[in-house]
Amino acid sequence: MSDKNRVVIFDTTLRDGEQSPGATMSHEEKLEIASLLDEMGVDIIEAGFPIASEGDFAAVSAIARQARNAVVCGLARAQIPDIDRCWEAVRHAKRPRIHTFIGTSPLHRAIPNLDMDQMAERIEQTVTHARNLCDNVQWSPMDATRTEHDYLCRVVEIAIRAGATTINIPDTVGYTAPRESAALIRMLLERVPGADTVVFATHCHNDLGMATANALAAVEAGARQIECTINGLGERAGNTALEEVVMALKVRHDIMPFDTGIDTTKIIGISRRVAQVSGFPVQFNKAIVGKNAFLHESGIHQDGVLKNVETFEIMRPADIGLNETNIAMGKHSGRAALRAKLSDLGYDVGDNQLKDIFVRFKALADRKKEVYDEDIVALVQDASANT
Ligand code: KIV
Ligand code: ZN
Repeated sequence: MSDKNRVVIFDTTLRDGEQSPGATMSHEEKLEIASLLDEMGVDIIEAGFPIASEGDFAAVSAIARQARNAVVCGLARAQIPDIDRCWEAVRHAKRPRIHTFIGTSPLHRAIPNLDMDQMAERIEQTVTHARNLCDNVQWSPMDATRTEHDYLCRVVEIAIRAGATTINIPDTVGYTAPRESAALIRMLLERVPGADTVVFATHCHNDLGMATANALAAVEAGARQIECTINGLGERAGNTALEEVVMALKVRHDIMPFDTGIDTTKIIGISRRVAQVSGFPVQFNKAIVGKNAFLHESGIHQDGVLKNVETFEIMRPADIGLNETNIAMGKHSGRAALRAKLSDLGYDVGDNQLKDIFVRFKALADRKKEVYDEDIVALVQDASANT
């Protein structure tokens, strides 16, 4: 793996993810999730927003002390007290990072009521201050995708000169589209002096359902850090889902030859745990981690999968750590699937008996949404009792 094709995975489940209304996690739950992220090979854990609350400060400090491999990052607005508080929390980490941001689009500039020059000055002061505390500083122009290009180039250059080591380009409101996401990164790499000395990151929200596509397009254009969350948790429609970008890069390595350090077999475990602790269930048909993501019900699909799994599966369930059966028994299931299921359950039935059980099975499947293993065992027992 060449270093230039290594994509850094920056997980913000505990910061941007936890900002979803109702997704608050307890201190212990945050520590547990951070430890799972570290174990799965996430490069950077954004652990929280230390100035936001005492609880956030305590969680970021504890995660900083606990992390074994990952860089631990805290978020700070472009204000000196925020940055100082953030540093107080992350400084305990083996590898700390300060992430400071300010909204640079016209709509966001109006909120602190700063003109372009005043904002540029603020960026220079705050990034310089952060860099004096920590040698790993990330800077984000919030709402970058709706910021004028000339101004964006100007402020990115200022942040780089002031010492930022990573420049994150947020699509804060999920407004961009893949071609534009790529063009923006390309434009910055071409126009900003010093752009080749820093890492460019992509941070996409999913308001139009394009977060994964936008993040991957940015990587193809030269971004080398993807910001994402487990299960795509995050404000409104969420952030880029970690499992989606990581598996897309793995499965389509032929056309996107980029590598991450993620142990993908840990994906399903952490996805389920995040769903539990955040109280945000994963939709059944969610890519990669949904309950149905690897399930086949129609007879044609089941028959195909039983003969050659590649007919209807582009990745193996085991690749994400899932060791469950991929056949869902229901009214669309065929005889081949029933025979395979019976054999899994330890029944070796002859053709006549299979025919009989199949008729009973179809009648039951018409009445019931899902047919469970216990139902099938009962059918076999019924069929045997009546012969
Ligand atoms: O979406 C966003 O702009 C953010 C920033 C704080 C990076 O989350
Ligand atoms: Zn965000």
